Amino acid sequence: MPSETLTVTDNRTGRSYEVPIEDGTVRAMDFRQIKSTEGDFGLMVYDPAFTNTASCRSAITYIDGDRGVLEYRGYPIEELAERSTILETEYLLIYGELPTAAELREWTHDITYHTYIHENVKKFMEGFQYDAHPMGMLVGTVAALSTFYPDARDVDDPRSREIQTHRLIAKMPTIAAFTYRHSRGMPYVYPDNDLSYAGNFLSMLWKMSEPRYKPNPVLERAMEVLFILHADHEQNCSTNAMRSVASSRPDPFSATAAAAAALYGPLHGGANEQVLRMLTHIGSTSSVHAFIDKVKQGEGRLMGFGHRVYKNYDPRAKIIKQTADAVFEVTGSNPLLDIALELEQIALKDEYFISRKLYPNVDFYSGIIYQAMGFPTEFFPVLFAIPRTAGWLAQWVEMLEDQEQKIARPRQVYLGRDIREYVPLESR
Ligand code: ACO
Repeated sequence: MPSETLTVTDNRTGRSYEVPIEDGTVRAMDFRQIKSTEGDFGLMVYDPAFTNTASCRSAITYIDGDRGVLEYRGYPIEELAERSTILETEYLLIYGELPTAAELREWTHDITYHTYIHENVKKFMEGFQYDAHPMGMLVGTVAALSTFYPDARDVDDPRSREIQTHRLIAKMPTIAAFTYRHSRGMPYVYPDNDLSYAGNFLSMLWKMSEPRYKPNPVLERAMEVLFILHADHEQNCSTNAMRSVASSRPDPFSATAAAAAALYGPLHGGANEQVLRMLTHIGSTSSVHAFIDKVKQGEGRLMGFGHRVYKNYDPRAKIIKQTADAVFEVTGSNPLLDIALELEQIALKDEYFISRKLYPNVDFYSGIIYQAMGFPTEFFPVLFAIPRTAGWLAQWVEMLEDQEQKIARPRQVYLGRDIREYVPLESR
């Protein structure tokens, strides 16, 4: 058996070093022993944007980008989307196993029990401008929750962590729905705890004067599936924000607000909005060929195509496409769908996209479904944040329980000025 080590020769000194390889990685700290002189700080690794750096060991989500595989705790996303519910999937992410019937009953009760928000949180939300972005309201309100639950600062107590997890997963749809109602000038609808997680969310969004809102079962299931697909995606930008902020041990409401802020950005939670803009700009299927030619000439990108990790069809995109068919049977088709289908069909046969391994990602079809269901585009990242909260919390607990983790504090390569003497104002 070849040894599981890496031998590095420093050509500055001619010295060789042997560093262990474990789980396909070498430890950056093992390079610190490599010094050119006695007083040298030691070698560091440089990796802006962490493109080849594992920041943790994790047992939550597995992605194989080349094969287009996504699994939560070992369960393929396709099976969860077909057979599970969002509450069960969230339990799986948090606790590592699918719940028994009794565990699911208790978990459902715990989440349902915490869906209401304090009336003062509602008043706080009423203070937002009428045209405030729903994601800005969500970020601000989640951060404000930390002031309502001072006990949440006890992050070393597993029971306290569990209670905050219930609160966050339960209240996220309520806050999200209130941001929507606020931006429409409509009265807030309180949670209906007899409905499912997704059904209650739809009720808080769409209920008008009817005594009881009955969600359409197809749209309710579609919402569940979209939630399941977005519940975790290992060390993405917002999850990294969650872990990094939480590493200094603030309460989880503050850390979740930071994660949601990272999700707010157009490079992360806002890409499906760009897909809608692109499809609207293309306008009709007859213009698709001309648009693809422009993309190939470097004039813009085919939004919703390509992924940093997936070099194959994003498994979530496949499921979303099936969900779209079911949704459109209820809502009527979205005229943008035909353009999207035509784009996909042409791009998948085109050498430019084939050679670069560019396939539809999760955002290619999700925006079209959300639009057909009646959601405004600025609400899309909020829809993403609701289920991702469970992923953030699972990663948060894993980070706190990981003996190797410390406060996240990267190094830098300093390229600024050498030490110099202060120049008084009159001499500058
Ligand atoms: N359309 C056209 N060409 C593309 C696209 C695209 N969507 N994506 C990548 N390329 C090309 C690049 O121009 C580059 O070509 P070159 O080698 O001739 O220069 C090559 O493919 C590799 O592209 P990179 O930018 O190096 O790939 P990277 O992994 O950094 O980018 C990203 C991934 C950002 C997702 C990119 O594919 C992209 O911009 N896609 C469109 C935006 C999008 O859909 N984002 C959502 C991602 S999913 C999510 O965040 C939830």
